[in-house]
Amino acid sequence: MSLVTLRALGLTLGAPLFTGLDLAIQKGDRIGLVAANGRGKSTLLKVIAGLLPPSDGAITATRGTRIALMQQEPTPEQQALPLRAMLAGALPPETREWEDWRVDVALDALAVPADLRDRPLGALSGGWQRMAMLAAATLAEPDLLLLDEPTNHLDLARIGTLERFIVDLPRETAILVASHDRAFLDGVTNRTLFLRSTGSAVYAAPYGAARASLDTADEAAARRYETDLKQGAKLRRQAAKLHNLGVNSGSDLLTVKTKQLRERAERIESAAKPAHLEESAGRIRLDERGSEAKVLIAFDDLVVATPDGRLLFETGRRWIRPGERIVLLAPNGAGKSRFLDSVIRALRGEAVRGVRTNPSLVAGVVDQQLSHLGADETLQGAVVSRFPVGDQRARALLAGAGFPVERHGDRVSVLSGGQRARLAMLILRLEKPGFHVLDEPTNHLDIEVRRCSRPN
Ligand SMILES: Nc1ncnc2c1ncn2[C@@H]1O[C@H](COP(=O)(O)OP(=O)(O)OP(=O)(O)O)[C@@H](O)[C@H]1O
Ligand SMILES: [Mg+2]
Repeated sequence: MSLVTLRALGLTLGAPLFTGLDLAIQKGDRIGLVAANGRGKSTLLKVIAGLLPPSDGAITATRGTRIALMQQEPTPEQQALPLRAMLAGALPPETREWEDWRVDVALDALAVPADLRDRPLGALSGGWQRMAMLAAATLAEPDLLLLDEPTNHLDLARIGTLERFIVDLPRETAILVASHDRAFLDGVTNRTLFLRSTGSAVYAAPYGAARASLDTADEAAARRYETDLKQGAKLRRQAAKLHNLGVNSGSDLLTVKTKQLRERAERIESAAKPAHLEESAGRIRLDERGSEAKVLIAFDDLVVATPDGRLLFETGRRWIRPGERIVLLAPNGAGKSRFLDSVIRALRGEAVRGVRTNPSLVAGVVDQQLSHLGADETLQGAVVSRFPVGDQRARALLAGAGFPVERHGDRVSVLSGGQRARLAMLILRLEKPGFHVLDEPTNHLDIEVRRCSRPN
């Protein structure tokens, strides 16, 4: 028997996100949930976790099934709690008092250093936050574990840890995981659900193989649709000929035949279904202004340390020149964000010891939390309040970035993770910076846009 069954499930938030979704989740299933940004993956996970009611259809679960959800971002309540307290809160209530030792076991399994364990979640690096949220979700000993983009913010080594962690979970634990990370999906899943507004598709294969089957099915559906329409048109042509013959000869038989042909054409045409057209969630482009300067930023033994003064690393003497594309690679918690923070402060004109920036430099910054986007501003407001572009142009720019006109008045807070990242990238492009600072820019972005966005 299935653990959880979705029957004709549908959800409308403004527009219909998905309809008629049928899925039976069995013990031990490892299902990848795939769709472009803003298509309703996070929303579906919340519906299954019981945090949101569906608009249509039903979810049934076998009695006693425990479901835990790791959300795409920590909630403000989670961020404020010290790590241990957050994890203790995730233990099943009936065992919380005498099983709190399991909190440390879980933290050990994910190799969380002792000095981080009493800090509020919000004070940890993005990677540690993900690991802690994963530990919290598994402490609830769920039968079904729902994971929303678990590899966001994780370095390569930690994605390996996460994969092993998932493989080591009890075999009967079912997992439904939303992700844009193809390699991760291929590594841990054995079924794939492609979420679509109508006609979502499920395959008994990991992402790569499932994607190939889906493409083949879509192509076959497109061919079938074309053949059906051609067949309908042919019948109508024959009907028209017979009609003329019938009128000229006054034959009742031909009139009946004509009617039958038209009815057949109608039946074929109304049953013909257009193939699914995968609409892109919008393209991302970056733009940059050239610079005459020889050196954009000079580092002179910049010291990067933790907020309480522990040395993380020193830069030595280094320079960044126009046209350079530099990748910053280091394990989680090594100080990448702290380092970028010093660079950003210097770019904003603050005196930072060890960093000199060229005064003519215009910098465009996208941080990990996309913190320059206010939650209360509207999409339209986010553009017109920053750039002298006028309402019409702002609408065109937003539409080009994948936001339909009817959404331009929506507040930033209701956007999906990927939609927020897309808006941040549009603002970055309009700033036309001479220097881009991007902290983990592919977090939240969907498979299509990760592949095709290359700097010009
Ligand atoms: N409270 C709300 N009111 C109106 N629309 C909402 C609300 N919450 C979410 N939405 C919209 O529902 C859609 C689906 O959002 P969801 O977060 O489920 O997408 P997603 O598939 O998880 O995307 P991503 O890949 O970017 O994480 C988005 O267009 C989002 O803006
Ligand atoms: Mg999401």
